[in-house]
Amino acid sequence: MIQYLWVAFGLIILSVEARQEFGLTDCPSTNANSSVTFHNFTISPDPVEIPGNLSVSGIVTFNTDIIGNLSLELAITRSLGFFDLPLPCIDHLGSCKYIDVCSILDQGKNATLTCADQLRDNGFPCACPFLNGTYVVDNAVFELPKIKGALASFAKGDYTIKLKLVDLDTDDILGCEDLQFTLTEPPVEYIPTTKAPCGFFCQLIG
Ligand SMILES: *[C@@H]1O[C@H](CO)[C@@H](O)[C@H](O)[C@H]1NC(C)=O
Ligand SMILES: *[C@@H]1O[C@H](CO)[C@@H](O)[C@H](O)[C@H]1NC(C)=O
Ligand SMILES: *[C@@H]1O[C@H](CO)[C@@H](O)[C@H](O)[C@H]1NC(C)=O
Ligand SMILES: *[C@@H]1O[C@H](CO)[C@@H](O)[C@H](O)[C@H]1NC(C)=O
Ligand SMILES: *[C@@H]1O[C@H](CO)[C@@H](O)[C@H](O)[C@H]1NC(C)=O
Ligand SMILES: *[C@@H]1O[C@H](CO)[C@@H](O)[C@H](O)[C@H]1NC(C)=O
Repeated sequence: MIQYLWVAFGLIILSVEARQEFGLTDCPSTNANSSVTFHNFTISPDPVEIPGNLSVSGIVTFNTDIIGNLSLELAITRSLGFFDLPLPCIDHLGSCKYIDVCSILDQGKNATLTCADQLRDNGFPCACPFLNGTYVVDNAVFELPKIKGALASFAKGDYTIKLKLVDLDTDDILGCEDLQFTLTEPPVEYIPTTKAPCGFFCQLIG
């Protein structure tokens, strides 16, 4: 599924040489008691190479049980140095708002948001309710596919993703994170042989 995300990225006509360090931080506006927090996330390699294998580690904490009618909102922007270009939502990928996340995850493999097997293997809760607790993601590896054709060269660059988890019943923001990373090409050309499943978290990490 992630290949479509890269295609959405590819719609951006401009391409700039860029380099920003990976970061995943609470939004400045987030109140101290948000229900979902991310700690100590690291990726390797940084910048992210595409195609390539991306290793992700970090800690997710649910400070309360997360239940109810949740929406996940992604706002993706590409930094072009002199201005930030918001990317659209195309075919459920990009800057999208996913309403009723629990029901979507419940649809299993057919869902527009799915949980990557790598996260399941790490013991990450892949269905609602997300019970309070701390979940460690330990070197989950995601294989990022090659972008085909002319779009490939447009994917390189700096990206920022704002992730917001909102309780639709109360309008409370349960969690808000700013994710930033740079996409680049691997030093040597290679052709990926297999495509790893790319689900919920994979889409989150862009
Ligand atoms: C933190 O949570 C408490 C209890 O739910 C709530 O009363 C308070 O308003 C929250 N703080 C902020 C800054 O939202
Ligand atoms: C994150 O890393 C710092 C420094 O290594 C450590 O002190 C802290 O406890 C870690 N956070 C969590 C939630 O484990
Ligand atoms: C990614 O990992 C897979 C499986 O280990 C391997 O076949 C593939 O060559 C790796 N890709 C890169 C770019 O290292
Ligand atoms: C988290 O779960 C534990 C064990 O079920 C419980 O004792 C604790 O009160 C819960 N904490 C919150 C904030 O709900
Ligand atoms: C969740 O909220 C949305 C928007 O308010 C609504 O359309 C949807 O029916 C709700 N789903 C459930 C299961 O309540
Ligand atoms: C996924 O969709 C296929 C084709 O529409 C269907 O045969 C299959 O039962 C669905 N799987 C699940 C888990 O819903």
